[in-house]
Amino acid sequence: MAEFTMLAGDKDWWRQAVIYQIYPRSFADGNGDGIGDLKGIISKVPYLKSLGLDAIWLSPFYPSALADGGYDVDDYRNVDPRIGTLEEFDVMVQELHKVGIRVIVDIVPNHSGSNHEWFQAALKAGPGSPERDRYIFRDGKGANGEIRPSELASHFGPTAWTRVTEPDGKPGQWYMHLFASEQPDFNWDNPEVREDFVKTLRFWSDRGVDGYRIDVAHALVKDLKNGHLPERQSFDLSVMKNNGEDDLFDRDEVHEIYAEWRKVFNEYNPPRVAVAEAWVHANRRPAYASTEGLGQSFNFDMLGAGWDAKKVRKIADYNLKAAKASGSSTTWVLSNHDIIRHATRFGLPNGTDFGQWYAKNRFNPKVDEKLGLDRARAMTMLLLALPGSTYLYQGEELGLQEALEIPAELMQDPQFFRNPELGLSRDGCRVPLPWNRTGSSFGFGTNGSHLPQPEWYGNVSVEAQDGVHGSTLELYRELMALRRSLETTEEFSWVNHILSPTTLHFKRPNGWQSITNFGTKSIKLPKGKVLATSKALVQGKLPQNATAWIQA
Ligand code: NOJ
Ligand code: CA
Repeated sequence: MAEFTMLAGDKDWWRQAVIYQIYPRSFADGNGDGIGDLKGIISKVPYLKSLGLDAIWLSPFYPSALADGGYDVDDYRNVDPRIGTLEEFDVMVQELHKVGIRVIVDIVPNHSGSNHEWFQAALKAGPGSPERDRYIFRDGKGANGEIRPSELASHFGPTAWTRVTEPDGKPGQWYMHLFASEQPDFNWDNPEVREDFVKTLRFWSDRGVDGYRIDVAHALVKDLKNGHLPERQSFDLSVMKNNGEDDLFDRDEVHEIYAEWRKVFNEYNPPRVAVAEAWVHANRRPAYASTEGLGQSFNFDMLGAGWDAKKVRKIADYNLKAAKASGSSTTWVLSNHDIIRHATRFGLPNGTDFGQWYAKNRFNPKVDEKLGLDRARAMTMLLLALPGSTYLYQGEELGLQEALEIPAELMQDPQFFRNPELGLSRDGCRVPLPWNRTGSSFGFGTNGSHLPQPEWYGNVSVEAQDGVHGSTLELYRELMALRRSLETTEEFSWVNHILSPTTLHFKRPNGWQSITNFGTKSIKLPKGKVLATSKALVQGKLPQNATAWIQA
């Protein structure tokens, strides 16, 4: 194996890092087959460097049948041949490390893909075999086992049980899958499963990977004792227990797994880091973020804040306090590959049920794109000024709106197929990036893109914004550079504007201040040097839907 460069050892690099999520199939296509790949990422290292990032997070790039965009992993220690090779992966890590960017990869431990060799072996081996024990196989109910073992829905609807055909050709047992049927859930009571994931974490850590994003980190351990099987129709947080005794999610025992992983992470220098994707009650997040566990846990609260000063302040306060109490730092997120892009969300009235809006009629109400972008830029500035790490999603630096025009026959999201009457899909935020104004797939590759790009994509491409003062791309670059020069400690305090509750103003180290105008009238800026604004000042005042950074 080649020598792997690591970045010099600040073990706390992640605490206030800016991490940029790459959805590999949709970032850049290096070989012209319409699918983004590692070669494409390598070719864009100068671009990533120009953004001033601390790290990238790569969504799954492993061999996969792509039943769920790669979150159905068929081999955890390899690269999908459509995306590249392990050698290219090593080159990518080295090139990124050379420019000071660390690499976080996605680990998907709740389920494998159904083409994983273990699942295929389980199908062949038959009921009661050790191969089946690595997954959750159960006999059905009814005279011939024809009724599913429990009333458990899948996240993508409708049921979480699929019946298999046994090696003798007869209909047989059922297996559990919380997501698509191509994503069988592992049985985490099986020691082989535990050992295999430790092996995977060492495999990537040895190759120089700096950290991990843990997919559905709260689901691994389920209560399956004495024949018990969870039953549930809704995955709403309101039906999940918040005391560690829920039979499906966030059980206390899951932390035994992460304690073991932490020991592995700490074998490395600097220690590898991890962030949990755990949709749990807020009071349960600190356990995932503990220094004996994964170390950090996503806070997705801003997704529900809308454009509302009071809510934003409450969420900031809660999460900064909670992170401090657990010894971790919090995370800020406005977009990722699972949600409607925030420039679009902010262009819809506060309180919109985005799922419903998308499913029913994406053009009514029509997105106010200008308002959406103004607010998106202002919120990004606000979050980038808070202590904690900020996760950006590819394309948000271009101010991209959701692609709403994808025809049903070109959709790829299993959520769309498994529940067609709902009409939900995450494909609109997964459309390949526009690099150029014109040309095949706007410079994404030389030969089309696996999801159709809207016509207007060229106007917001990297080429169209590069070097253009005031463009969203240049704003992001400016903010990242400023943040890097100003953010030394995690110091933070509010400046209260009692007469103007729609103003959010706070102080950070080195005289740095951030002020956001959620109101309808322009406001006066505090004294100091104006470092950056998300919108041009009007007669020296900060207009509505805007943020300014000041140095006092
Ligand atoms: C969360 C991922 O972000 C999402 O894209 C995926 O569908 C599910 N986990 C299942 O792996
Ligand atoms: Ca390709």
